[in-house]
Amino acid sequence: MKFAIDNTPADKIDTACLVIGIHSDAALQGSAELVDKASNGALQKLIASGDIDSNWKSATLLHGLDGVVSQRILVMGCGEAGKLDGVRYDAVCKSAGKFLRNHTVTSAHVCLNDLGADGQSAHWLLRQAATTIAWSNYRYTATKAPKDDDSKPLESVSFHAGADMQASLDEASGMAKGFHRSRDLGDLPPNICTPAYLAEQAREIAGSYENVSVEILGKDEMAELKMFALLAVGQGSVNGPRLIVLKYEGKDDSSQPVVLVGKGITFDTGGISLKPGPNMEQMKFDMGGAASVIGAFEACADMQLPINVVCVVAAAENMPDGNAYRPGDVLTSMSGKTIEVLNTDAEGRLVLCDALTYSQRFNPLALIDVATLTGACVIALGHHASAIMSKHDDLAEELLAAGQTAVDRGWRLPLWDDYQPQLKSNFADMKNVGGMPAGSITAGCFLSRFTEGQRWAHIDCAGSTWKWGGDEGSSGRPVGMLTQFLIDQA
Ligand code: BES
Ligand code: MN
Ligand code: ZN
Repeated sequence: MKFAIDNTPADKIDTACLVIGIHSDAALQGSAELVDKASNGALQKLIASGDIDSNWKSATLLHGLDGVVSQRILVMGCGEAGKLDGVRYDAVCKSAGKFLRNHTVTSAHVCLNDLGADGQSAHWLLRQAATTIAWSNYRYTATKAPKDDDSKPLESVSFHAGADMQASLDEASGMAKGFHRSRDLGDLPPNICTPAYLAEQAREIAGSYENVSVEILGKDEMAELKMFALLAVGQGSVNGPRLIVLKYEGKDDSSQPVVLVGKGITFDTGGISLKPGPNMEQMKFDMGGAASVIGAFEACADMQLPINVVCVVAAAENMPDGNAYRPGDVLTSMSGKTIEVLNTDAEGRLVLCDALTYSQRFNPLALIDVATLTGACVIALGHHASAIMSKHDDLAEELLAAGQTAVDRGWRLPLWDDYQPQLKSNFADMKNVGGMPAGSITAGCFLSRFTEGQRWAHIDCAGSTWKWGGDEGSSGRPVGMLTQFLIDQA
């Protein structure tokens, strides 16, 4: 989808669809006011007669108004003016994007950013409008060909802004690209999106940018590094594990990188501790953490941010098999610490612990892992927030703030040492499960044992990275939070 800037007044712009916003309790402003004036009050009349819905997120399509050049006008309801904060504004833009995606038009001119939302800058308003409209424009097509009568995606969108705002659209392009990559990877079926496929995608990204390089480690290399926790998880599958390392150099190599680590379980059956049958297909999203760190990495490369970033993906498939690891096994991780496996379904922390140990060689400025780690996280926060855990208040605050800015929000959970005893084992340095209470936190506590001395944060995106029900599919999250975090670092 192509973005452009166009400063032509709303009533004069020649576009397939003009998108404007109105409040339910305030006078028309900006582009809506212009359209109303040019049409001799026609807009106001339609609002008064109830033909245009001004409630939050509603969409009404008008077919031409006398005095207005555009053939169509999409009027977005923004609800009460005083309530329109960043989050509600973002939802209006998303709703507009969804309407346009489901409509036959392939281009539009969007003026929603001239509405203003409480406390938001012109840069943010434009970037967020462009990012969310591109997000809404996504559709999965890899294994389902579009039909002739399907609505067409948007090909190009212009925004009402001055030429000095190009940087906002460049940011939006980067973010949109990252989200798109993450959603595509998440949506792909597990027979296509294997560890080797993720590695191929990383190679493809590396091939597209001069300052990106990639290294792929297979079984043998991992064995040499003594990554026996990661290897154990992968050993029941014919789709062998990979450790994928992408490096982006946006700054001289003496500058410490942000290291993003992703859980890339391309399918999680639970292994010998087999999951129940119903809904098991959802476990193709168990590489959502990997997809989001790859997406954020690509966004960063696309924007050519002046920072260094390393992306490490621990990719494996968790299968039951004659060669699979078992409950009772004691694994020696790369760190040398031993782990008693009580449940082979707590596999994410096992692949991550070795990836986190490995990542310390990069001397990270910040070490952030992202994972669909626990079902408990979905119970605690649902699909709206990613869980953030860190002993570093400043890092947690930076991630929370980035999530707020990108409207890809997180919520913090404690990582107090009080929870650590739940991981005590009689046969190893720790167990891989901490029992019923605080399942997301004890998973975080497990990882904390492999990040000592690091400025580290853990993000559990089990609920946020995908949605189920009618609109099932990958959300791409937390690409927004991570990309904003990288922008804030730069
Ligand atoms: N991938 C799952 C977590 C998950 C479950 C994500 C549901 C999204 C939706 C993870 O590998 C897992 O199975 N975790 C177990 C941990 C338990 C065995 C301690 C869980 O949450 O049940
Ligand atoms: Mn599992
Ligand atoms: Zn899992």
